[in-house]
Amino acid sequence: MYLRALEASDFDIINQYWNFLDFRRFLGVPLPRSNNCLHDWLDKRSTADPWKDGLIELAIADKKQNSFIGLVHLENIKRPHDRAEFGVSILNPENFSKGYGTDATRIMLWVGFSILGLHSIYLDTMEDNMRAIRTYEKVGFQRVGLLRETEFQDGTYKGLLVMDILRDEFESANPLFKVDAFP
Ligand SMILES: CC(C)(COP(=O)(O)OP(=O)(O)OC[C@H]1O[C@@H](n2cnc3c(N)ncnc32)[C@H](O)[C@@H]1OP(=O)(O)O)[C@@H](O)C(=O)NCCC(=O)NCCS
Repeated sequence: MYLRALEASDFDIINQYWNFLDFRRFLGVPLPRSNNCLHDWLDKRSTADPWKDGLIELAIADKKQNSFIGLVHLENIKRPHDRAEFGVSILNPENFSKGYGTDATRIMLWVGFSILGLHSIYLDTMEDNMRAIRTYEKVGFQRVGLLRETEFQDGTYKGLLVMDILRDEFESANPLFKVDAFP
């Protein structure tokens, strides 16, 4: 797999899966989005400049099938703190647990630490999203704490697990991904 720029032509595939509740429920977005709203979202995300807008959103693509698999981002990029918030999603549930999420997370963290010069990257995830938690721990994210009963979903309040990773922890956990950050 590889990461490439997100394009306006990716709209149809994002729209197809975005309107599945099974996809949105992991992202804490219970309501469907209109085409207008999604066009607006895609326009903003695909044209964002990480240094100016504090956001980079890339497409996860499969080399063999030449297909668009999912989305991965760093947002809320803050200077002078050199931190950002991470997110990833694989669109088609048939592609879950095939390693795409782990590979995309590793590459995006490398982009964050090595190209954007970040020092720490954090995320939150539903406390019961075990596939996501396992993915993040494989790459070296650590559990920081739990925001208790903070997401209302399926008639109940769920916790959000906060995780983070520092640049040197990423290097230790992923020795093949040499970090050569900008000063
Ligand atoms: C979370 C997500 C990004 C992970 O990507 P992925 O490609 O499915 O994950 P990977 O195949 O790289 O790794 C998944 C790991 O979780 C494990 N796993 C799968 N289901 C699990 C479960 N119920 N409990 C524990 N581990 C589980 C897999 O076995 C694998 O670990 P392994 O390599 O040690 O065997 C993807 O499933 C997804 O987009 N889900 C829907 C949206 C979402 O949840 N986004 C994250 C929001 S925070």
